[in-house]
Amino acid sequence: MTVREYLFPSDPYAGFDHHAYDLDLSGFRLPESVLARVVEVRPKMVIEVGSWKGRSAIYLADRLRKHGQEAEIICVDTWLGAEEMWVKPERDDVPERYRGLCIRHGHPAVYEQFLANVLKSGHAGTITPLPNTSAIGARILGRIGTRAQFIFIDGSHEFKDAYGDLVAYWDLLDEGGMMVGDDLDWGGVGRALLEFQRRVCNCRIEAHSDQGWMIRKGGPQGPWHEALVRWLLARLKRSRPVLFFRR
Ligand SMILES: C[S@@+](CC[C@H](N)C(=O)[O-])C[C@H]1O[C@@H](n2cnc3c(N)ncnc32)[C@H](O)[C@@H]1O
Repeated sequence: MTVREYLFPSDPYAGFDHHAYDLDLSGFRLPESVLARVVEVRPKMVIEVGSWKGRSAIYLADRLRKHGQEAEIICVDTWLGAEEMWVKPERDDVPERYRGLCIRHGHPAVYEQFLANVLKSGHAGTITPLPNTSAIGARILGRIGTRAQFIFIDGSHEFKDAYGDLVAYWDLLDEGGMMVGDDLDWGGVGRALLEFQRRVCNCRIEAHSDQGWMIRKGGPQGPWHEALVRWLLARLKRSRPVLFFRR
């Protein structure tokens, strides 16, 4: 049984009229350095935490299709937006993200744009939405025995949330699988990764110049990944070096 069959009694896209929408994949730059590697693990199950309008999920689905691989892609998102989309001054820095929430009657409708984009890109058969918080999503997937070979973490970028996502989804990742993410230069994400490396897995974190990062489960162990630490320290405005070097 697929996760979709377990979660939904009927096709979540059935009856949704995507013709009323234009294809709109705006919003975020993709960390292609790490997303492109999805085909290396030949996944049967991919989990994405944080999907917004579906751009990264569609990229992953395109890439798998191009390589003749088939996987179920589960997208966990509240479709309620991240903190910085709602709160000023960050909200004013990128106002199209607040607009992208498509608030109607006081509630975001961006989920409908996600559905429309997935349908328009021809991936409704493989991309399955799981509309919930990342924490509850991980517990649901864990309770139904879901195992993934590729996990993309791109939900909340606040330290506690990002750390919680790393820990919760790491448990769902098969040995040999890849956990990847974005926004290394976002303070909370960088700190969460280092804390995760310190407390949970003494694993090597690959850092890329497009801010993508990758950890391979059961891959090379290592002390601090020096390049990553140097890179983070150079970028984090409010860094706390003591945190990085304590061990
Ligand atoms: C940076 S966007 C994702 C962008 C997407 N991966 C892309 O490339 O287009 C972050 C998303 O995470 C979702 N999000 C933030 N915090 C969340 C949480 N705690 N649980 C579930 N989703 C969350 C937001 O609703 C938003 O859609």
